[in-house]
Amino acid sequence: MQRPLSRRRFIGATAAAAALPAAPNLDAIEPAPPAKPVSISSANGLATTARAVKLMAGGGDTLEAVVSGVNIVEADPKDMSVGYGGLPNEDGVVELDSCCMHGPSFNAGSVASIRDIKLPSRVAQLVLKRTDHVMLVGEGARRFAIAHGMKAENLLTDAARRQWLSWKENLSDRDDWLSAREAAAGHEARPTGTITCLGLNPAGERSGVTTTSGLAYKIPGRIGDSPIIGAGLYVENAVGACGATGRGEAVIISCGSRIVVENMRHGMSPAEAVEDVLQRIVKQTVDPRLLDKKGRPDFEVVLYALRKDGKHAAGSIYKGRQYAVNEGAGSKLHDCLHILDR
Ligand code: GLY
Repeated sequence: MQRPLSRRRFIGATAAAAALPAAPNLDAIEPAPPAKPVSISSANGLATTARAVKLMAGGGDTLEAVVSGVNIVEADPKDMSVGYGGLPNEDGVVELDSCCMHGPSFNAGSVASIRDIKLPSRVAQLVLKRTDHVMLVGEGARRFAIAHGMKAENLLTDAARRQWLSWKENLSDRDDWLSAREAAAGHEARPTGTITCLGLNPAGERSGVTTTSGLAYKIPGRIGDSPIIGAGLYVENAVGACGATGRGEAVIISCGSRIVVENMRHGMSPAEAVEDVLQRIVKQTVDPRLLDKKGRPDFEVVLYALRKDGKHAAGSIYKGRQYAVNEGAGSKLHDCLHILDR
């Protein structure tokens, strides 16, 4: 039975409610979903968004559409930041991270530090569909993928091995192990390419996926933002979706994608939502090790937002980035907003 409110509790509760801003009515702020499917992705996702839109236009589920889209890049040995052909960890072993979210069921799946499996986004999708869990890591994720019939194979291409060997041969102090002296000194920026893809259909259903081989030459077991729900990806059917690429550590600490979606819930446009989080990342980067000579972050983060009505934006800390968009008339690159010039 519910207890009646005492006068003191009633006054406290109404005062607290009065202090809160009114919850925005999203249906009033935003029009209906777009008439045609929309997909956005990082700049390496032109073919990805084309495939995602084609599948959604044919009535395919939004999650299947975006995962199928990123599979093109995961399987491509020439993209050295994702899946097969990705740059390895410091031991020369490729370790992959991926997560996905399905808006209609508000469910997620994720794998981190998985080895030997070419399409980690497919494993993340299986975690979502065929387990009662959200995340599997390392050897457990690999065994789960093999149990589902996926082939274990060596993902290190000759080109990636040669780049890793050259890094190892010239290693000196440019790895991720910080001595007490290095912890107070500089930071060595290394490739952190990734692909993220978001899709929205005319029924207002949306899904997203992010997948990567992570930071090149990372400490084995290092996990970036890409497999972390709320960091490398966040999707809410009623509001919008966001994916991230760039320095995973900064996206994890800022809970980047989750905050972008939260900003849109509170009425910000996709561009405003992204810009706000990038500004926060710049402001919160105070460790001198991570700053350039001008006192600004010496790394990049890119955030990609797709609102429930199909409006989209992407933003980077520094000028010069682009993102892929497909709204039914072919995939094109659009400029990202930026908050700092180099
Ligand atoms: N954003 C990819 C990573 O940091 O691993």
